[in-house]
Amino acid sequence: MITTRLHPDKRTAAQAIAREMAELIVLRSKSGKPTVLGLATGSTPLPLYAELIRLRREEGLSFRSVITFNLDEYEGLGPEHPQSYRRFMEENFFAHVDVPKESIHIPDGLARDAARACADYEASIRAAGGIDLQILGIGRTGHIGFNEPPSSADSRTRRVHLDELTRRDNSVFFGDLAQVPHGALTMGVATILEARRVELIAFGEGKAEIVRRAVRETPSAACPATWLQRHPRCTFHLDAPAASRLQP
Ligand code: GLP
Repeated sequence: MITTRLHPDKRTAAQAIAREMAELIVLRSKSGKPTVLGLATGSTPLPLYAELIRLRREEGLSFRSVITFNLDEYEGLGPEHPQSYRRFMEENFFAHVDVPKESIHIPDGLARDAARACADYEASIRAAGGIDLQILGIGRTGHIGFNEPPSSADSRTRRVHLDELTRRDNSVFFGDLAQVPHGALTMGVATILEARRVELIAFGEGKAEIVRRAVRETPSAACPATWLQRHPRCTFHLDAPAASRLQP
């Protein structure tokens, strides 16, 4: 089931989600348990990472007990590439908090044997006890992670081909469409649905139509985000423009 939550602005949304994450981390660490977070890239979660960093610096929130799994990585981009998600995460989050290095997992865009790397990624998630809380953005094709249409509900971490709309949307970061990789490694829809809580964030008018489809359309591979309707605990955190097409 998808619950929608309207926030006055990006910052307030980020504060609400960061607070929930902090409470989960503190609660679990009190009983000696790690917190497994699924993390996302893109411009949407940036205010969330900024707020988590503030909680670390100003309120002493510790991420020592946190284990992270990122959703995806571009194929062919290594950790040093300015547009790799590894680098994005390092610059926007990991460099500023105390998640232990060995607790950080991001698919390896340079893996020689992608199928093997993806199977290992699934195994690492299972070994960590599964994802407690998954952060998601949404692409205009309806992708979550890089699960482009068509992506079935039972898809697992795998190599995927990027939709041209996604390549165009993401070319703003690369400066030039030709530089945007054609492939990626992504957690699957089933991997995401197994997370115990899912918090999807979408801001702005540009996401209004895909948010409407994700919430209202019958779940199908044609719009992978619709599969979230089958999740028992999924919240869409929206600002007013992103929620503007949800009114009946
Ligand atoms: C990328 C990522 C997705 C993300 C999407 C939306 O394609 N792989 O995980 O949700 O972009 O990006 P943005 O938040 O910049 O709109």
